[in-house]
Amino acid sequence: MNIMNIKIKDKVIEYPIIQGGMGVGISLGRLSGAVAREGAMGTISMVNVGYREEDFYRNTLAANRRGFKKELKLARSLSQGRGLIGVNIMVALNQYEELVKQAVEEKVDYIISGAGLPLNLPELVGDADVLIAPIVSSLRALQLIIRVWSKKYDRLPDFVVLEGRGAGGHLGFKRGELEGGKSLEELTMEVGEYLNDTGIPLFVAGSVFDGYDLRKYRELGATGIQIGTRFIGTYECDADERFKEFIIGSRKEDLTIIDSPAGLPGRALMNDFLKSIERERKPSSRCINCLRTCNPKTTQFCISDALINAVRGNIEEGLIFAGSNVDRIEKKVSVKSIIEGIIEEYEEI
Ligand SMILES: Cc1cc2nc3c(=O)[nH]c(=O)nc-3n(C[C@H](O)[C@H](O)[C@H](O)COP(=O)(O)O)c2cc1C
Repeated sequence: MNIMNIKIKDKVIEYPIIQGGMGVGISLGRLSGAVAREGAMGTISMVNVGYREEDFYRNTLAANRRGFKKELKLARSLSQGRGLIGVNIMVALNQYEELVKQAVEEKVDYIISGAGLPLNLPELVGDADVLIAPIVSSLRALQLIIRVWSKKYDRLPDFVVLEGRGAGGHLGFKRGELEGGKSLEELTMEVGEYLNDTGIPLFVAGSVFDGYDLRKYRELGATGIQIGTRFIGTYECDADERFKEFIIGSRKEDLTIIDSPAGLPGRALMNDFLKSIERERKPSSRCINCLRTCNPKTTQFCISDALINAVRGNIEEGLIFAGSNVDRIEKKVSVKSIIEGIIEEYEEI
């Protein structure tokens, strides 16, 4: 099966591998640019992308807009014109509409949107030359999105990301569905069959790791894969080195499921921070009003504070999201070696 040069509308991807968007600040310009440079799809997460700007807490939207411009410029220069560079924008963000519009103005190659149903995404993007893709965790959610997009906007997704229960970060499943629910293999077959007639490419995510996985999921009906956690263990990942080391040193037993202020369960690594919120609430004194779903009066903890601590390497006070294959990351490597390895494994059999 040839996986080179897959066409999505007028854009061509050399390899059907998406580096999943990871907020806050885990996938910015350096990681996404390095992934694109290898002929794959590098994704900048737009969640609090301007967290390093000096006026971030006073002037959050302007800081995020400025931060994003810098990261996109960096990604583009690192990519040397290869691959695609896009963004991940969570529907649950209060700034969702502004961020989508900025991504369109800046002419990103694609927008991936999950953590909620991106029902008005086609309206925000209009006829701009930007690929749009929802992240779903069930056939039902995809059918609903397709029904609304076709009826209201006469538009279909340009590709779809299907995220299974093994993923890191926020999960599109209820806690009860995390065990005993459908496997990613079953979901891939179901969604792959549904999309078959449409020609819409399907990318699957959640504990997907290597070229053998790429082959398996392609045989089940997917076009490609999206990988998150594995890309954290790279020289190019934008997080502090202490964050990467913590990921590399973690075992399966260290993983836990939390109730996130985003209103979804999330997979993260147990640490002092998570132990402490079992004892006391940790709201922020400087709420930046980031999530539609969060009520600062009742929230268990401020997810912006916790994720910003994490990306800065303050592991003790940070929330460290990770996927269920975290134990397979053994040492820091380059993005190039991951992508080349996946392609070699894929072609091996
Ligand atoms: C640290 C971390 C942060 C993440 N942040 C986001 C995010 O902001 N938006 C999103 O849609 N997915 C996010 N994800 C999910 C990834 O994009 C990806 O789909 C998922 O991690 C795939 O599973 P894997 O980690 O097992 O490869 C995050 C995952 C991790 C590990």
